[in-house]
Amino acid sequence: MKKVLLVCGARPNFMKIAPIMSAITRSGKLSPYLVHTGQHYDEKMSKSFFDLLRIPEPDIDLGVGSGSHAEQTAKVMVEFEKVCLKEKPDLVVVVGDVNSTMACTIVAKKLFIPVAHVEAGLRSFDMRMPEEINRMVTDSICDLFFITDPEGDRNLRKSGIDPKDIHFAGNVMIDTLLSNRETAQANPILKDLGVQPGQYCLLTLHRPSNVDDPEALGRLLNALGRIQEKIRIVFPAHPRTLKMMEKFGLLEKFQAMKNISVREPSDYHQTLCLNMNSRFVLTDSGGLQEETTVLGIPCITLRENTERPVTVVEGTNEVVGTDPEKILAAVERVLAGEWKKGGKPHGWDGKAGERIVAVLENYLGA
Ligand code: UD1
Repeated sequence: MKKVLLVCGARPNFMKIAPIMSAITRSGKLSPYLVHTGQHYDEKMSKSFFDLLRIPEPDIDLGVGSGSHAEQTAKVMVEFEKVCLKEKPDLVVVVGDVNSTMACTIVAKKLFIPVAHVEAGLRSFDMRMPEEINRMVTDSICDLFFITDPEGDRNLRKSGIDPKDIHFAGNVMIDTLLSNRETAQANPILKDLGVQPGQYCLLTLHRPSNVDDPEALGRLLNALGRIQEKIRIVFPAHPRTLKMMEKFGLLEKFQAMKNISVREPSDYHQTLCLNMNSRFVLTDSGGLQEETTVLGIPCITLRENTERPVTVVEGTNEVVGTDPEKILAAVERVLAGEWKKGGKPHGWDGKAGERIVAVLENYLGA
């Protein structure tokens, strides 16, 4: 059987790799080998996702851990090259836009191993985002492109990609959402936090542009201080954000805000439960923009741009930016019931994993 080496490394990768692994296993025509780079390693950032999403144990964990971009990328490359040389895969599958995605793509291509990129073609056109560089490098050298929406197709064609290599897959993360929706609904997290459906907003915040700069983070905290006077905020905090708050001396001020529940990172079902029952979501994450769109939950995106414009054009997302006055105005509109309703983008239907695996099997002649 043809061997397919699948790469995952950081939290958002796990929801994307799960349906692909599951579809490969169901079809039984390819031999999967799962590599965890170890970019994320805390129980709450990694293992809990494997357990809850029933992703098989990785065949190997490269254990690279945290570091600067260069350190992390280089460590992944050195370790992944050893795996490729030993396992000699027929194809490598990478997902998303994290450092592990780009690092493994470069390694595989230099060993003449074809690479398929799931979630290809997304562009924020913001070169200050590390993910944008990861997306551009990955898409400039890989062989098969799985896209989530027509904008991805346009971006890839504009950069000279042969249309025959571009395949519409739908959205693998939405496969995972749809198959976990019921389980998530039964999660006890709302009761544990003492919040009622529709009576709180979910906040996530971890982008370097928002949290690594004391001024930007301070401005956002001021906005949050005013929002929590209107509605309870539930905030499962990324380790990076808490670290930065502490470093900039902002943690005490934040913890003094009485209507914000700061928690450790939530597991997949807790996050989905908090998302689907919230009044609205405040976020700088990419994935949540898509998940809220499918769930019909208003999403206020705390960034100046998005690589997922379909969630704005068709869904419930609005890219509001980081100006506190604009954020407050958006919150007022949601609370007044003046938010758009949105619809589900084409093909975000729970079958993306199957479509991807069918293309891979065909490509490999399996
Ligand atoms: C990475 C991705 C980002 C993604 C995010 C999801 C890149 C460039 N960025 O950002 O696209 O949205 O994951 O979470 O790949 N840390 C821990 N425990 C962990 C992992 C990280 O404490 O298990 C802390 C470390 O202090 C680390 C910091 O978080 O230095 C940042 O981790 P890193 O993987 O470098 O980037 P993320 O901000 O998580």
